[in-house]
Amino acid sequence: MQISFVPPGSVGSGSLVVGVAEGGELLPGAMKANEATGGALKRAIALARFKGQAGKLLDVVAPAGVEASRILLAGIGKGEAFDSGAAERLAAAVIGKLLTSGDETITFALDVPKRSKLSEGDLAAHLALGATLRSYRFDHYRKVADDERVTVDAIRIQTRARAAALKVWAQLSPIAEGIFLARDLVNEPANILYPDEFAKRTLALKKLGVKVEILGVPEMKKLGMNALLGVGQGSVHDSRMVVMQWNGARAKKSKSEGPLAFVGKGVCFDSGGLSLKPANSMMGMKGDMGGAAAVVGLMHALAKRKAKVDAVGIIGLVENMPDGKAQRPNDIVKTMSGQTIEILNTDAEGRLVLADALWYAQSRFHPRLMINLATLTGAILVALGAEHAGLFSNNHELANRLTQAGYKEGEAVWRLPLSDGYDRLVKSKIADMKNIGGPNAGSITAAQILQRFVNNVPWAHLDIAGVAWQDSEQRPLIPSWGTGWGVRLLNRFSADYYEK
Ligand code: BES
Ligand code: MN
Ligand code: ZN
Repeated sequence: MQISFVPPGSVGSGSLVVGVAEGGELLPGAMKANEATGGALKRAIALARFKGQAGKLLDVVAPAGVEASRILLAGIGKGEAFDSGAAERLAAAVIGKLLTSGDETITFALDVPKRSKLSEGDLAAHLALGATLRSYRFDHYRKVADDERVTVDAIRIQTRARAAALKVWAQLSPIAEGIFLARDLVNEPANILYPDEFAKRTLALKKLGVKVEILGVPEMKKLGMNALLGVGQGSVHDSRMVVMQWNGARAKKSKSEGPLAFVGKGVCFDSGGLSLKPANSMMGMKGDMGGAAAVVGLMHALAKRKAKVDAVGIIGLVENMPDGKAQRPNDIVKTMSGQTIEILNTDAEGRLVLADALWYAQSRFHPRLMINLATLTGAILVALGAEHAGLFSNNHELANRLTQAGYKEGEAVWRLPLSDGYDRLVKSKIADMKNIGGPNAGSITAAQILQRFVNNVPWAHLDIAGVAWQDSEQRPLIPSWGTGWGVRLLNRFSADYYEK
C-alpha cells in the first residue's frame, strides 16, 4: 500500500474521507464536500442521525459530478480528545471498512478539529500509521476469495504541512515495519518457523546495518547454556541463539554507559515437554516466541530510523517437545551462571531459556539496563487479561519509564511486586532453585527466577502472555492474531529516554 501526502483539494477517484465533530458539526474539508455534493452530506447526516462520535462512520455514495465515488463521513469525537491515538484509530476504522471494498484509492481530507492539540503534520502522519497498521494481512497460506481481496493500493492524505508530515512519517513507518515483522513471526506456524528458520529470518536485519550473529548448539554448549539447551533437547529442531547489535549512538558518553539490552523468549512451539499440556492449552503455542518476535521487530525499527542509541537484541530459540531425549521432571541443570535448577515441570521452560539468555546478555555486553519480553505465564492472563502486560523490575526509574512509554503508545503495562518472600518460594532442597513455585503467585515466582540471572543490572521483565496474540481480532489497529505487541512501547522507551 502506497502512502502519499498531498495538498488539500486534490481529490481523485475512489473514496474521500471527511470529518464530522461530535454534535454533527462538519469540519472544513467536509463543508467543501457538502457544497460539491449540493448538500448531500448534511442530508445524509440528518437522515442517519449521525452524531460524529469517535470511530463511527457513515458512507454516502457520491452524486454525479463529484470526482470521488464515495464519501465517508468519519466521526472525530470531541476535539479536545482528538490526539494521535484517536487519529490512528479513525484511519484504522476507515481502512477496516474500505480495504476490500473494491476501491483502489482512499483520500483523507481531515482537518485538525477545534480544541485538539495535534499539529497538522502529526495528524497526517498518524493517519498514515493507523491506516497502515490496520492494513496488515497474513493470508499467504490460503486462496483469498475475491470479496476478501485487498483492493486499496493507494492512501492519499491531504495536508497543508507536507514537509512536517513526511518528517514524522519517516519516524513512524519504521515502527509499522517492525510491528509487521513481529506479527509475521508470531503468526507463522511452528512447522515452518522452527529455531533455525527463525534465526535465518533475522539475517535480513543486516541490510539495515544490524550486526547479526547466530549461535548453534555447540557454541551454546561451550558457553554452558545447559538450561536453554535442556529445553530444546527433545526436539528434532536444534536450538539457536541470535545476537543482534545496533550501534547508532554517537556520543562517547552513551557508549561508555553500555547498550540497552533486549532479551526475548523464543519458544517456537511449547507443547509443555514431558509435562505435556492438555490439547486445548497447546492451542496458540506457536506464538510462544512472541517475546523474541518483538525484539526482532524492535531492532528493525531502531535500525530503520537510524536511532541514536546502542542496542543489543538477544533471543533464545528452542522448541519444547516430549521425546525419548527430552528433559525429565527432577532433572537438574547447571546454567551458564553456574547456578543449578531442579526441573519440576518441563512446561515452565521459558524461565530456563531466559536464565541463560539474560546471563549471557549481561556478562558479554555490560548493558546499562536489560529488558526481557516473554509469554511466560498463564497466570498473568488471570491477573491482567489482555489490557496490560505484567511488569516486574528491580529498578523504580526503569519501571516508571516503561509505564509511561506504554500508556503513550497504547501498550499498557502494570507493575507487580518482587520480594525476598516470593524468592523463597523457588528454593530447592537439592539444587540452587527449582523451576516452579507453589500454586499461587505464578507470574511472580517466574519473575523471581529470572531475577536470579540478572546480576543486579537494572532490569525489567515484561510478561506478555496476555497480549502477544489475540483470538477475537477486534482491536482497531490489530487485524491479526499475532499483535506485534512491544515494538511500539520499546521504540518509544528508547526514543524518549536514551537517544541523543
Ligand atoms: N508459554 C507458557 C505460558 C502461556 C500460557 C503463554 C498461556 C500464553 C498463554 C509457559 O511456558 C507455561 O507453560 N507456563 C506454565 C508455568 C507452570 C508450569 C508453572 C503455566 O503458565 O501454566
Ligand atoms: Mn510452557
Ligand atoms: Zn512457554
